[in-house]
Amino acid sequence: MSNRRTFAIISHPDAGKTTLTEKLLLQGGAIHLAGEVKARGQARRARSDWMKIEQQRGISVTSSVMTFQKDGVVFNLLDTPGHEDFSEDTYRTLTAVDSAIMVIDAAKGIEPQTRKLFEVCRMRSVPIITFVNKVDREGRSVFETLDEVADALALDVVPMSWPIGMGGIFEGVLDFATDTIARPEGDSREFLGKRDAKGEGAPIPAEVAEEIELAQAGYPEFDLEAYRHGDLTPVYFGSALKNFGVAELIDAIARFAPPPRPQTSEQGTVLPERSDVTGFIFKVQANMDPQHRDRIAFMRMVSGTFKRGMKLTPSGLGKPIAVHSPILFFAQDREIADTAEAGDIIGIPNHGTLRVGDTLSEKNDVRFTGLPNFAPEILRRVALKDPTKTKQLRKALDDLSEEGVIQVFYPEIGSQWIVGVVGQLQLDVLISRLEAEYKVEAVLEASPFDTARWIKGSDAALKGFADFNLSNLAKDRDGDPVFMARSAWDVSYQQERNPELTFSATKER
Ligand code: G4P
Repeated sequence: MSNRRTFAIISHPDAGKTTLTEKLLLQGGAIHLAGEVKARGQARRARSDWMKIEQQRGISVTSSVMTFQKDGVVFNLLDTPGHEDFSEDTYRTLTAVDSAIMVIDAAKGIEPQTRKLFEVCRMRSVPIITFVNKVDREGRSVFETLDEVADALALDVVPMSWPIGMGGIFEGVLDFATDTIARPEGDSREFLGKRDAKGEGAPIPAEVAEEIELAQAGYPEFDLEAYRHGDLTPVYFGSALKNFGVAELIDAIARFAPPPRPQTSEQGTVLPERSDVTGFIFKVQANMDPQHRDRIAFMRMVSGTFKRGMKLTPSGLGKPIAVHSPILFFAQDREIADTAEAGDIIGIPNHGTLRVGDTLSEKNDVRFTGLPNFAPEILRRVALKDPTKTKQLRKALDDLSEEGVIQVFYPEIGSQWIVGVVGQLQLDVLISRLEAEYKVEAVLEASPFDTARWIKGSDAALKGFADFNLSNLAKDRDGDPVFMARSAWDVSYQQERNPELTFSATKER
């Protein structure tokens, strides 16, 4: 079975994702001192070929994928951008992982962004391990936290460990699997002995012993299948800052998290055991420097063993490209490696030939499905400052939507193009790139529309709908019909009136 574990951390800003990432890498031996994730030394930078490329091109991609090893298991941690704001990038990254760790703040519980990211995981049945962080501080009661996760996310919860006191009286975390307590000072671990009903012999306060007893009676046993189906989440407690419960978390990923999953394609399911190389692009990062139009396309390997120099055919292109300088992401001293296998991520430098959603394969015989476009939550009309630049604008919008920076909608009536994004940040990126790379000055204006839905149905049904709703119809970048709605109410109204059409908030490419 594969020793790869490819995962992401989902959390609300400030819950401790960066701190936890640091500690995971530290324990995996990928970095030597905590704190290096934020401020990696220049010396390290200069040493690696890849970092040089990175400096020359002025882009930063190394933190997008972090690979580390422990006890023979290779962990690929994919970064989900940590902005307050949300982008499709984040969503798409989640299509490239096999599991996720959900970090929640012990005092705050489930916060809005955690919930949103969780919904994306659920759409794809991505299994989730929960890490309740910051138990070294005063938090909510453990039961309250567990119940909130269960209620808010409709998941079965199974506590795998239990904090012994929180805040000022925090004494450590009891690991149920081994009956050992990790204590805050140093790494000392105490064997608790067999716990009896009264918690006798256990160096834990009576009220905590009582809690633990209640918990063990009240919550179900951990069920691997239910977890892997995304129906149950094992919950670990710890403190990223104090490096507490992190080893248990790594251990849980190694033992429970699924190895590379099969992926669906138009030609049927592709298993990770398949011998020839297949993969899909889930992210494209372009250079902000207008002199170089280089991009790095991030490919998630689905099957096969990739070797440097290999020829792969992108589904969108039809002719093979040789991948001479792939980027692999070992966080040790091997940023450029020669092989990669199912579950791994490769960065492929290219000049814009690779698009988000593209499949790459040795034999050009598969096309993966399931990389979604999401219904934009913010729609804006693009107005040119110089109206003679229409052609350049169209080119730019096409390019940037191919890259996944924005979505573009061309209304059936009128010439005012509309861009759609999931987060405000994408709009800022759009405006700055239009100017820097396409020399197009544009402003974004309010759009009469609130949301968009891809519509599907028979030609007759679509035509019937168009006859009455032409002013609310647009085409996306691929020419597919989209209903531009003025409100959520508008969507449900049209849905009711047109049962022969489907209105969908995502579009799978
Ligand atoms: P994020 O990436 O999810 O946004 O969170 P980050 O790791 O940056 O952590 C946010 C804040 O929470 C940081 O404090 C961090 O030190 C603190 N923190 C993380 N894990 C724990 C924990 O287990 N216990 C406690 N008590 N605090 C934790 P900050 O003051 O905002 O930043 P900094 O100046 O310490 O870096």
